[in-house]
Amino acid sequence: MRRLISPKLILALDVDTLVKAERLVDRLYPKIDTFKVGSYLFTRYGPRVIEMLRGKRAQVFLDLKYLDIPNTVAKAVSAAVRLKVKMLTLHISGGRQMLSAAVVSAKKEAGSGNAARPLLIGITVLTSQKAGKEKVLSLAKTGIDCGLDGVVCSANEAGFLRRRIKKDFVIVTPGIRSSGSAMDDQKRVATVSQAVRAGSNFLVIGRPILKAKDPLKTAEELIGEAYGAGDQGFNY
Ligand code: C5P
Repeated sequence: MRRLISPKLILALDVDTLVKAERLVDRLYPKIDTFKVGSYLFTRYGPRVIEMLRGKRAQVFLDLKYLDIPNTVAKAVSAAVRLKVKMLTLHISGGRQMLSAAVVSAKKEAGSGNAARPLLIGITVLTSQKAGKEKVLSLAKTGIDCGLDGVVCSANEAGFLRRRIKKDFVIVTPGIRSSGSAMDDQKRVATVSQAVRAGSNFLVIGRPILKAKDPLKTAEELIGEAYGAGDQGFNY
């Protein structure tokens, strides 16, 4: 089986100041061109983080993991579209009504303005939590069924989802670690090659790059590993 888009590394900008975030982007862009902004940095600095990234032509993965009543999530999604993010996350466990409201809102906002519709990515089960594959599959099916573009899952479930869901959808996998390195608080981890071979499109990497002595060198090695893994074919 061939994948439609080549795998891409996304850096989780899990640092505590805007200055540190900007330094990292200056160091890593364009080797890495998409950066994940999570709740900590966004709560601290708000849209300034996104403006900083867009000012450097980098793309933004807004990972605020929306989970609320449908009307509130729909409004948050439309505000995110106006910020021109490339992708954003919401919890599939929020239910069908919430997911459908988000999809409608993203389409409407993108249709009325000059922003492209971001990829809507559903969280199945956090990679820091233990979960059975069937649970992840059932959440992923619900998300895709409601019109989401893809899901976040660990690399351990990615191949299983590819085999069981026959539609085209995006898989985002955090919890990437080199073999033998620290797992930190992650429970379901995999290496870059395992994730790519399992069918992941976007690999979210934080601490392995953030804590590296030379983040650029580490990023280059991981990108090399991702391309090499694609050449070996896919195991789903
Ligand atoms: O440092 P590490 O590589 O573990 O970072 C993983 C990133 O992916 C963190 O920013 C975390 O919030 C995020 N994430 C995750 N599990 C999910 C969704 C997002 O670890 N299911």
